[in-house]
Amino acid sequence: MSVWPASTTPLPHGGLAVGGVSMAEAADRFGTPVYVLDEGEVRERCRTYRDAFPDGEVLYAAKAFLSRAMVRWVQEEGLGLDVCSAGELELAVTAGFPPERIVLHGNAKSPQDIETALRLGVGRIVIDSPSETARLAAAVGPQGHQKVMVRVVPGISAGGHEKIRTGTDNQKFGLTLTDGHAQQAITRILDQPQLELVGLHCHIGSQITDVKPYVAALRRMVGLMVHIRETHGIVLPELDMGGGHGVPYRPGEPALDLTLLARKLRTELVEGCTAAGLTVPRLIIEPGRAVVGPAGVALYRVLAVKHTGDRVFVAVDGGMSDNPRPALYGVRYAPRLVGRASTAEPLTTTVVGRHCEAGDVIAADVRLPADTRPGDLIAVPVAGAYQLSMASGYNLVGRPPVVAVHNGTARLLIRRETLDDFRSRDLGD
Ligand code: LLP
Repeated sequence: MSVWPASTTPLPHGGLAVGGVSMAEAADRFGTPVYVLDEGEVRERCRTYRDAFPDGEVLYAAKAFLSRAMVRWVQEEGLGLDVCSAGELELAVTAGFPPERIVLHGNAKSPQDIETALRLGVGRIVIDSPSETARLAAAVGPQGHQKVMVRVVPGISAGGHEKIRTGTDNQKFGLTLTDGHAQQAITRILDQPQLELVGLHCHIGSQITDVKPYVAALRRMVGLMVHIRETHGIVLPELDMGGGHGVPYRPGEPALDLTLLARKLRTELVEGCTAAGLTVPRLIIEPGRAVVGPAGVALYRVLAVKHTGDRVFVAVDGGMSDNPRPALYGVRYAPRLVGRASTAEPLTTTVVGRHCEAGDVIAADVRLPADTRPGDLIAVPVAGAYQLSMASGYNLVGRPPVVAVHNGTARLLIRRETLDDFRSRDLGD
C-alpha cells in the first residue's frame, strides 16, 4: 500500500507530482526544507471520517497540525475541533471556526486557557484533574454556564510508543476509574449548577492500529455511564472516545481500519446501552494524525554525503527542529529521491539533519541511490502530523514554510521563519 497522497503521480526524469504540482518545482519556488500539504487529501480524509461516523461527531485534533487554512478545510468538511491551548483555540476562532463546535482539552490548563475558552464561548471543556472543577466553576461564575466532559482513564492502553500511551493510570492524563477518582470528579461536577456535565471522554493512546482496545475501552465507559445513572439518576448524552487512529509511515505497515472501527464501536455502544436500558449517547471521535499525516510531504535538499566506516550519511537542510519524531519515538520513515532519475544501485543510508547532535536522524537505514549527492532533493511522505506542530527553534535554523497544493496550483500557507524573526523576538539587554 502506498504511503503517498492519492494524488501522487510520477513525472518524467524521476519527478513526482502531488496535488498536480511538481515537487521539484515547489522546492525551487519556496526553498527547502518545505512542507507540502495536499488539500484534496485532507478534505478527502475528513469526508471518509464523516461517512464512517454519519450520526457521530468527528473532531479534528488540532495538535497534529493547525493553520488558518486547515481550520477552514476542516470546517467546510463538517468536522468539529479538539484544541488543547488558548493558542490553538484563539487561532481557530479568529479564523472563523464556530466556538460551540470546539472542545478544549489539557491536563494542566493555564488561567489563560480557561479565560480564553470562556471568553470565546468554547463548546465543551474536558475536566482532567480533581482540582479543575472548583477552578472552572469559579471562573464561570454563579450566573454563568459551561458544558463540560470528564476525561476518564479506562484502564485500557494502546499505542505505537510508550510516550503516547494514555489509557492506564501510570501516566498524567485523566481521572482513573479503578480508584474512584473519575466517580468523585463526576459527583463534584454535578454539585456545581453552572457546570453542565454532557459526557465522558477517554483517549487511550496514539498510532493504534487495532480496533480491539477501543472496543474494550468503550465497554468500560458504558459501564461508567450505567453507574452514573444508578448513582445520580442522569443519562449523559455524549461519549467521546478520543483519537489515536494509526497510519502507515512505510509501505507494508498496518493502518487502523476505520470502517471496522466505526462498525464495532457502534455495535458495542448500541448493544451495551440497550442491555442496560440507557439511551444511546452520541459518539464523538478525535482523529488528528489520520486526517493530516498522510496528506503531508516534507522536502529537503541534500547538503552533504559522508561515508564513514560502514555507514553512509545523507545530510539534509532540515532535521530534528522540523521533525523530532525519530529522536523522540524512534519512528521510521521511507524517504525517496525526487526530481532526478538515477540508475545507480540502491545503498543503505541514514538520512540525517543539520543539527548539532548525533541523534538528529530523519530516517535510519533507508535505501537511496548510491549516487545521491549534494543538491539532490529528498521527499519524506506522511509528514503532515506532529512534525511542524512539534517544531522547535533549535540552533536557530528556523521553521520551514507550509505550502498547500491542489488541482495543479501551489500556495504558501505559512511562511518560513527568518533570521529577522529571531532577532525581533530577542530584545537585547
Ligand atoms: N484526543 C486527545 C485528547 C489527544 O491527546 C490526542 C493526541 C488526539 C485526540 C489525537 O490523536 P491522533 O489521532 O493524532 O493520534 N506527538 C505524537 C502523538 C501525540 C498524540 C497526543 N495526543 C506523535 O508524533 O506520534
